[in-house]
Amino acid sequence: MSALTLWRHARLATMTTTAPWGWIERGALLTQGPRLHWVGPEADLPAGLAPQAEHDLGGALVTPGLIDCHTHLVYGGHRAREFEMRLQGASYEDIARAGGGIRSSVAATRAADDATLFESARARALALMAEGVTTIEVKSGYGLNFDDEARCLRVARRLAHELPLTVRTTSLAAHALPPEFDGRADDYIDAITQWLPRWHAEGLVDAVDGFCERIGFTVAQTRCVFEAARALGLPVKLHAEQLSDMGGAALAAQFGALSCDHLEHLNAAGIEAMARAGTVAVLLPGAFYFLRETRLPPVTALRAAGVPLAIASDHNPGSSPGLSLLLMLHMACMLFRLTPEEALQGVTVHASRALGLAATRGSLEAGKQADFAVWELDHPNELAYWFGRNPCRFVVRAGAAR
Ligand code: NIG
Ligand code: FE
Repeated sequence: MSALTLWRHARLATMTTTAPWGWIERGALLTQGPRLHWVGPEADLPAGLAPQAEHDLGGALVTPGLIDCHTHLVYGGHRAREFEMRLQGASYEDIARAGGGIRSSVAATRAADDATLFESARARALALMAEGVTTIEVKSGYGLNFDDEARCLRVARRLAHELPLTVRTTSLAAHALPPEFDGRADDYIDAITQWLPRWHAEGLVDAVDGFCERIGFTVAQTRCVFEAARALGLPVKLHAEQLSDMGGAALAAQFGALSCDHLEHLNAAGIEAMARAGTVAVLLPGAFYFLRETRLPPVTALRAAGVPLAIASDHNPGSSPGLSLLLMLHMACMLFRLTPEEALQGVTVHASRALGLAATRGSLEAGKQADFAVWELDHPNELAYWFGRNPCRFVVRAGAAR
């Protein structure tokens, strides 16, 4: 048996379902290599173990490492000029239809070399990690051709090699129609279905996403992409019902989607389909705020249907340029009326499920990966309460202090 490390005198929000917050007032964690060997009240520590190292956390709050389950972290340039245009009255959809929006980030991404893409994505990942994040999802979607999508996915993979961070990659080639396919959306979808097996063969893809929207792709086109994913055994997820009710969530649920994301315009049938399929609803208050949306996602109905609610940054240059997951907890409470406990569940247990990682991440339990954050806070409800402040003292990732 390899060496044990004891982390004692902690106030634990384990995020298991044993108690609100999975709370343990005076808790301890025993880690063994990258895993949690034992978690519980310090008074119940199993006898006869001789941990090789011991850390007194002085009563600090400990939570699972946070999980940002929806980001678009790899892109070139930024869209501050479009932000100014929107402040002067142009809408996000107007800008997209005029060839700006996602397409302008595609041009900047294609023009950026690998080193530039990597360095900018690395800086963004570090900003998320500083607030206790140990796992992120990264989508492609700003390359929109075979080579540039692959480049962006390789950058995402490289983040995991060079940083103490778990990265799940998602192909979002079906994000927008690239200019070379103007007027030929079906041909572009067909191209994606041919590219996917090649990206997958290189080990670049953990899941497949799409943008089912008036300014994105139709339900029928999204279905083609999902069928290609299914043929490869890859899980799917969807940007669904963000700007209009397309019925994308119901389609995604038919494919057993890990998550449907945004969901401001989700209807009752979509909620029911998600509940039946066990699909997670990923709420993105940053995009709601930055696009000045007024229609709220149907949180009460999702909750009543038992759909797990996750929260993510949706970091991207067009609709959510923020890099604070803690701010998203605050905004999920303020804008979407989640409770602080639901907000923390949304970036731990439910976020792990949205990435298909529930068996190994998202809560502090024996057998899971030893990813946890130590906070300068008294109570976990403070994670959603403060904003513009980083109370993270340090992070342990795969058993090692980061
Ligand atoms: O998640 N909805 C589509 N995709 C992104 C925005 C992309 C962009 O504007 O660059 C989102 O909000
Ligand atoms: Fe997104």
